[in-house]
Amino acid sequence: MFDEAANTTSPAPIRGCKGYAPRLLAILGLALQALAGATAAAAAPVGAAGPPPLAPLGPPPIPLDNKQTPEKIELGKLLFFDARIGGDASTGCSTCHEPGQGWAWAEDFSRGYPGTVHWRNSQTVINAAYYPRLFWAGSSSSLEDQASSAARGGVAGNGENDIMEARLALIPEYVKRFREVFGTEWPLIRDAWRAIAAFERTLVQRDTPLDRYLLGDRSALTEQQLRGKALFEGKAGCLQCHNGAMATDFSYHNIGVPPNRRWEEDGLAQITFRFEQYAKGQTEEGYRSAKSDWGFYYRTKNRWDRGKFRTPSLRYTMYTAPYMHNGVFYTMEEVVDFYNRGGFDEEGRTTPFPENKSRLIRPLGLTDEEKEDLLAFLEAFSGEEILMDPPELPEYAPLFTRQELMEARK
Ligand code: HEC
Ligand code: HEC
Repeated sequence: MFDEAANTTSPAPIRGCKGYAPRLLAILGLALQALAGATAAAAAPVGAAGPPPLAPLGPPPIPLDNKQTPEKIELGKLLFFDARIGGDASTGCSTCHEPGQGWAWAEDFSRGYPGTVHWRNSQTVINAAYYPRLFWAGSSSSLEDQASSAARGGVAGNGENDIMEARLALIPEYVKRFREVFGTEWPLIRDAWRAIAAFERTLVQRDTPLDRYLLGDRSALTEQQLRGKALFEGKAGCLQCHNGAMATDFSYHNIGVPPNRRWEEDGLAQITFRFEQYAKGQTEEGYRSAKSDWGFYYRTKNRWDRGKFRTPSLRYTMYTAPYMHNGVFYTMEEVVDFYNRGGFDEEGRTTPFPENKSRLIRPLGLTDEEKEDLLAFLEAFSGEEILMDPPELPEYAPLFTRQELMEARK
């Protein structure tokens, strides 16, 4: 599954020690949280001591142990589009990260492995290279690690390492390419994750109206967008969390997103929902009572983390609707209305954990015109759509010719 709890090779989740330690840690945590709240509140009027400003995006960081080469990137591209990297060879990365759907999946919940539906919204892989931690609750720490859990997760790729590796060995073109790129006699599955990650590090969109404006082209934003930018940084308070070059603080907040009703109405969604609770190490009581995704809680097991999710980048969002971890908002208008009401949807629903809701989320009092200005500015984060045709994939071939087999028999 898409989290450490179900992935034996990932680092163990952060847990408290036995005895009094958890209670002590809890008290300490609450005190820290109160402090954090206080500093955040103090920083609310955006000024010199406020959050980092929006900034143009530079090239993505490249890990020293997985350098980019054209051959590796090309191999990664083939593997990203190849559904044989997965359980029954039907569901590969591009199945849920379709270039034409914002390199994501345009439904509230992602499609799942055949016979399942996922429980979270599929994230775009565009600009994923910049996140220090991946997934809605930040449970993965590198693209290499992420690719492995995606290909193996039960409602995602549902693949087994040995089978996927065996399939690669049966495709001569891959054997040749892995040998050239990684120097191994046969393809190793962990090198597949490295190649995929290298390909993902090329999926970057940093030529946007906002970048051009920040780099000095004052005509890159319209008058309306400039008014929206001022609201974003001021009255609407977005910059408090969506800041810096990626328009995110890379931190976790509960902003009041209400649960997705599909968990009550759709049997398949309900099954995945319960399965995920279990797989992520939910308590028995939580397993029985949970009606929503507890997000960051699954990693820390602290109750004040219930309903917190990683602040997503606002880059490329023109192409990645629906929005939020559970895809409850289908348009950017709905998102802006949600924030304007102080973190409530149009029926007045909010998070089941209001005690954890960020104090930065409060009614904004934006007029209709101001909402339009803000929406116009949000478009400046996206730039051109990145489209790509799926490459032609190499074919299987028998490992030995008939002749060789006959000779081996002698
Ligand atoms: C069945 C659908 C599905 C498949 C198959 C799938 N993904 Fe995903 N992907 C998702 C969903 C849903 C999420 C968000 C999951 C979460 O946060 O728990 C996600 C998240 C991600 C992220 C994190 C982006 C971010 O902003 O943190 C990356 C990167 C990614 N996928 C790449 C891949 C790669 C590479 C593969 C193939 C090895 C793959 N995915 C296969 C559905 C899928
Ligand atoms: C307290 C921090 C915080 C503030 C302030 C904030 N956001 Fe967010 N934003 C988040 C988090 C966290 C999420 C993800 C929440 C979830 O999925 O439950 C999010 C999600 C979003 C998304 C969805 C992106 C996607 O890929 O699904 C958009 C769009 C967005 N915010 C825009 C804004 C705008 C516009 C403002 C100002 C009116 C704003 N945000 C203010 C933290 C914040």
